Amino acid sequence: MSLPDLNGRPEIELLVNAFYERVRKDDLLGFIFNDVAQTNWTTHLPKMYAFWETVIFRSGGYTGNPLAAHAKLTPLTQMGKPQFDRWLTLFKGTVDDLFAGEHAEHIKNCATDMANVIHGKINAVPEPRFDPANLTPEQRARYAAYKEKASATIS
Ligand code: HEM
Repeated sequence: MSLPDLNGRPEIELLVNAFYERVRKDDLLGFIFNDVAQTNWTTHLPKMYAFWETVIFRSGGYTGNPLAAHAKLTPLTQMGKPQFDRWLTLFKGTVDDLFAGEHAEHIKNCATDMANVIHGKINAVPEPRFDPANLTPEQRARYAAYKEKASATIS
């Protein structure tokens, strides 16, 4: 029997429900929702229906900030590659168990791209602030020479 494609909102709801069923029971991810974030599923699930409907069909009206939601978690729990890999494995596995087709492929690609972006951004080490006190004597000398050359060019 061939699987249906992800054709609209009813299928998105089915997918999101099935995905979070798996997430909630997962040894690596479950406690992040259940214990760390203490997710209110009554509000989180409809938000995720809207999110995916907005991503895939440009309707759904999602207006949240996924980056901020995940950045908030980094001081509280591990949000590294193992967690994002598991998230993606569960998401793609749920899609593949229920749907097949163009939209099914598209949602897996979107999820992969977004997982990479979210993972990269929330784990990025902030740029160290420029502090002249940290210059080495060599850097100071090089800068002085550069400045001299630059002012010679200008005048
Ligand atoms: C390690 C992987 C991930 C973990 C542990 C995780 C966990 C969470 C948690 C705990 C929340 C907050 C739920 C609440 O309100 O209590 C959340 C929100 C959300 N997550 Fe994730 N997430 C992960 C990856 C992703 C990825 C890859 C996406 C997108 C493809 C995503 C999309 C969202 C969205 C849209 C929200 C709602 C943000 C809002 O409040 O508007 N998550 N996630």
